[in-house]
Amino acid sequence: MGADQGAEQNYREMMSDEGTPRIVLSDLFEAVEQTPEIKQVVDRILQKNQPLTIVLEGSVTPENIDTIHTLISSRDNPGDRILLFDISSQATEEHRQYIKKAYPKRDYQVARGDMMSLGLTSGCADLVVNDCAINYCESDQENKRTLEEIRRVLKDEDAACLFSVVVDRQYDDPEFGENQELVEEEARSIPGTFPILPEEGSPTRKCWPVPYYEDLLRQAGFSFRKFDVERDKNNRMFRVSYRRYLLQKN
Ligand SMILES: C[S@@+](CC[C@H](N)C(=O)[O-])C[C@H]1O[C@@H](n2cnc3c(N)ncnc32)[C@H](O)[C@@H]1O
Repeated sequence: MGADQGAEQNYREMMSDEGTPRIVLSDLFEAVEQTPEIKQVVDRILQKNQPLTIVLEGSVTPENIDTIHTLISSRDNPGDRILLFDISSQATEEHRQYIKKAYPKRDYQVARGDMMSLGLTSGCADLVVNDCAINYCESDQENKRTLEEIRRVLKDEDAACLFSVVVDRQYDDPEFGENQELVEEEARSIPGTFPILPEEGSPTRKCWPVPYYEDLLRQAGFSFRKFDVERDKNNRMFRVSYRRYLLQKN
């Protein structure tokens, strides 16, 4: 096994182990539960009479399927779909096996796919969830494509995206303002990096400052509400900080 593959494997193991400092989809939905104005929007979507399409972009651990299943199980609408797209063949296979075993009667589908080009019809999704998968993007252009694609697949009415992103934590300092708004214009387009594992030599991913991501969201045609700010501040994972947003089409 190469060094990169070994690190990926360690990352998967960390994300599947409740005892490690991980943040998974259940944390995102716990934050939704605790934020009345966000919960209200999500509940309105979940209470629709028509079958729902929920698109999950990137998931390391199959228990994330349980989290979404729990959200929709009380609806008992056999037409409800969860569509998971992950670029990793290992993630795809693990989720497929898990669904076959745990939810054989549900229309939960897994595809090896790219969040920048989902191959879905426009306006088909009620809820899109991107919980830090955007941090696998390597460039401004890839970030833009990911957000354009989310906007394209979302329905026009009563639809939303739950979006979490790891941000450049060097600017989480009063010197740069509560929301990093004092980061200089020129610095905003320069990505920092963060480790995916809490150990020396960990592979890294890219992260930009908060104002960069908020501009990106506006330019992609979203209005947004931020949530879970206090928990991020009080409960920072190993050397990583994040922001969470509810996105709706303008
Ligand atoms: C940070 S992890 C997501 C963590 C997730 N919130 C969880 O709880 O498991 C990112 C995931 O996105 C996937 N990914 C990376 N690039 C992708 C792409 N272009 N399209 C779809 N999935 C991608 C990775 O394979 C990985 O499974």
